[in-house]
Amino acid sequence: MTRDIHVVEHPLVQHKLTQLRQKTTSTAKFRSILRETALLLCYEVTRDLPLTNIPIETPLEPMEAPALDGKKLCFVSILRAGSGLLDGVLELVPSARVGHIGLYRDPETLEAVEYYFKVPSRLHEREVIVVDPMLATGHSAAAAVHRLKREGASRIRFLCLLAAPEGIEAFHREHPDVAVFTAAVDRGLNDKAYIVPGLGDAGDRMFGTK
Ligand code: URA
Repeated sequence: MTRDIHVVEHPLVQHKLTQLRQKTTSTAKFRSILRETALLLCYEVTRDLPLTNIPIETPLEPMEAPALDGKKLCFVSILRAGSGLLDGVLELVPSARVGHIGLYRDPETLEAVEYYFKVPSRLHEREVIVVDPMLATGHSAAAAVHRLKREGASRIRFLCLLAAPEGIEAFHREHPDVAVFTAAVDRGLNDKAYIVPGLGDAGDRMFGTK
């Protein structure tokens, strides 16, 4: 089965990803490079958003000009690491609505457990982009998308920075309709379900919690 996966190979994205991977990159630098990378990834994930022509007036004459169609876009951040991507995508689409899903990984089962859920109304009328830097086992991503579908969302994309083949496989087994956008697909997962070579724990890297 072909997977709906888009690897953003733009040189700027790849260069910034390398900086993010390096263990010597400081917390402050990690945060600012992540924000820049998210902005570039956002450009790709929104590439085919529907447009509609609206009447406007330039200083010279009236015209019909393209504008984003439909209700405001909705970004949904999977806490806590999703917030690192959220800053960048909101810089590009400041009028977007924002939802948050709090999920933690049960250390025994590695399954996602929900502890927080708050999203904008009328999800069924919105393009929804779920953001989380690491698509590792795919459990949190799949759980978040199930929850959003239960809430009415039907047009969903998933944006991450790094993905593991196992995570993509598991995620697309449950959500073949949701396209995944990532800067790279790494070799796999280690025995602690970290992506390798990866960049470590994205939350710890961005918040300096280790
Ligand atoms: N979450 C992370 O932050 N890093 C990984 O490698 C896997 C999951």
